[in-house]
Amino acid sequence: MTNIILMGPPGAGKGTQARHLVETRNMVQLSTGDMLREAQASGTEMGKKVAAIMAEGKLVTDEIVIGLIREKLQEGSEGGFIFDGFPRTLPQADALEKLLSEMGLKLDAVIEMQVDDEALVARITGRSTCGDCGEVYHDATKPWPADGKCANCGGGNQKRRPDDNEDSLKTRLMEYYKKTSPLIGYYWAKDNLQRLDGLASIDEVRKSIAWILGE
Ligand code: AP5
Repeated sequence: MTNIILMGPPGAGKGTQARHLVETRNMVQLSTGDMLREAQASGTEMGKKVAAIMAEGKLVTDEIVIGLIREKLQEGSEGGFIFDGFPRTLPQADALEKLLSEMGLKLDAVIEMQVDDEALVARITGRSTCGDCGEVYHDATKPWPADGKCANCGGGNQKRRPDDNEDSLKTRLMEYYKKTSPLIGYYWAKDNLQRLDGLASIDEVRKSIAWILGE
């Protein structure tokens, strides 16, 4: 069982790599962004509360996301957990440590995916996903198939996120540098931090992660 954090700014490729690890290593992806979008789609009170905050690119409260992670951790995972987009603040990192220790689990690696800001703008503004299976596409590097059907599941439900625009992205980046990047030092000091070049191709990044995980 392996538990890892994928850390990096918006568009670094966390979700893309997490999907691959789920398929190949039987791990469970815990993406707080996906959980919050699901809450919005199902119209829960919490979903309504966070919709405007997310569209603007700000972080939602620690209390909400810690609650979501606590619930999902209790469902367990044979292969381990991939924390994707969590933790994003120091209180979230402390809460995660406490939750894992209560369950007798430990973090095996925190993988920082380094990508420069210009590349992030291009990645985010060109991204779409399949609304049925979650496959991630990009207008330039991995375009949605010309026949209109997702290459993974055959569905025709191409989606773009409301926060995938330049204005929201600026706020998301600012939130990342102000509130999340201090975690890099935090995990470095705990001897957990591994860094990789997130500008490399998707396959190269996969190989770097596999190497970090000892494959
Ligand atoms: P969240 O959903 O977590 O978004 P994010 O962190 O901004 O990250 P993204 O999903 O945008 O990017 P990614 O790194 O997964 O990139 P991807 O693989 O898709 O959070 C959204 C919002 O929810 C937050 O703003 C906040 O409001 C709230 N929230 C979530 N968690 C929270 C928390 N813990 N606390 C408080 N608030 C929270 O790739 C992007 C594109 O690039 C794709 O098109 C892909 O095809 C392409 N690509 C990927 N890898 C490569 C590569 N190596 N080369 C070329 N292209 C690539």
